[in-house]
Amino acid sequence: MVPVPRGSAALLPRPFRVVRTRRELPDVRTLELEPLDDAGPIRFQPGQFTMIYAFGIGEAAISISGDSVKPDVLVHTVRAVGPVTRAVFRAKRGDVLGIRGPYGEGWPIEVAAGRDIVVIAGGLGVAPLRPLVQAILTERARFRRVAVLVGARTPATLLYARELARWRGRFDLEVRATVDAADPAWNGEVGPITTLLARATFEPDQTAAFVCGPEVMMRFVAADLVHRGVPPSSIFLSMERNMKCAVGVCGHCQFGPAFVCKDGPVFPYSRIEGALRVREL
Ligand SMILES: Cc1cc2nc3c(=O)[nH]c(=O)nc-3n(C[C@H](O)[C@H](O)[C@H](O)COP(=O)(O)OP(=O)(O)OC[C@H]3O[C@@H](n4cnc5c(N)ncnc54)[C@H](O)[C@@H]3O)c2cc1C
Ligand code: FES
Repeated sequence: MVPVPRGSAALLPRPFRVVRTRRELPDVRTLELEPLDDAGPIRFQPGQFTMIYAFGIGEAAISISGDSVKPDVLVHTVRAVGPVTRAVFRAKRGDVLGIRGPYGEGWPIEVAAGRDIVVIAGGLGVAPLRPLVQAILTERARFRRVAVLVGARTPATLLYARELARWRGRFDLEVRATVDAADPAWNGEVGPITTLLARATFEPDQTAAFVCGPEVMMRFVAADLVHRGVPPSSIFLSMERNMKCAVGVCGHCQFGPAFVCKDGPVFPYSRIEGALRVREL
């Protein structure tokens, strides 16, 4: 039997007040939250998530999308898809939400030290990768070439477009974007995100890759990276499964023999390659 984690920090939501909201896309909003209790800020590793509780509605797992070296403000980016995320999306400055966490295993940034890095994000997958890129930039000298490759349906649905443009202005970062359908003003790539892998500069056997996006996209990207010579143990994917407890007890997030909440959400491809091939596992 799996032991239930002790202590209120593991299971009881803490009250957090919304201090700022930003509309990213028509259905996506970023919220900044501050704790109302005296338990202090949530310190987290890039890639970890919290459970957000919309009072009277329910909880959902949401990645932390803020900078891990500035934990005083908790940052989440949500897409309104169901009851909880719609309620969080609608939250205004001064509203109170419940937060528990952080949970899960984040991006293993240490394995990338001294190596090339490729960060690959599709759609809302940029949200959990943003703290990783911020952490890489904080200690930029520890890594070799860094490429950030982003895909979206259209130019208008490119998340964090302004921040991407800022990153693109740096000399120590290669930033590329692709869309499925362009408009006349678009001067990036058009096509699947694997198109960008062909253009990015990295030495495959000396590369760590961090990937988040729709599952089908991650399947293609991981296979493409392996084909190019990146070792499966150096490719890391962030998986999503429906969550309830988030602490490895209820079994809702089971993925093959692993629990996404406790063993993930970030997994090396070498560990989940078999399970990832099974649709809707
Ligand atoms: C680790 C992790 C990090 C996440 N990070 C974010 C984030 O940063 N931002 C964000 O917006 N979302 C994120 N999500 C997704 C979010 O938790 C889910 O979309 C959640 O189900 C939303 O709850 P809801 O009540 O709003 O919608 P729900 O009622 O749960 O439904 C949302 C939609 O997803 C479908 N759905 C829900 N659960 C499943 C399932 N198990 N299998 C198939 N389809 C399902 C529903 O049919 C519906 O279309 C994350 C999920 C995980 C596991
Ligand atoms: S959500 Fe309960 S075991 Fe993962």
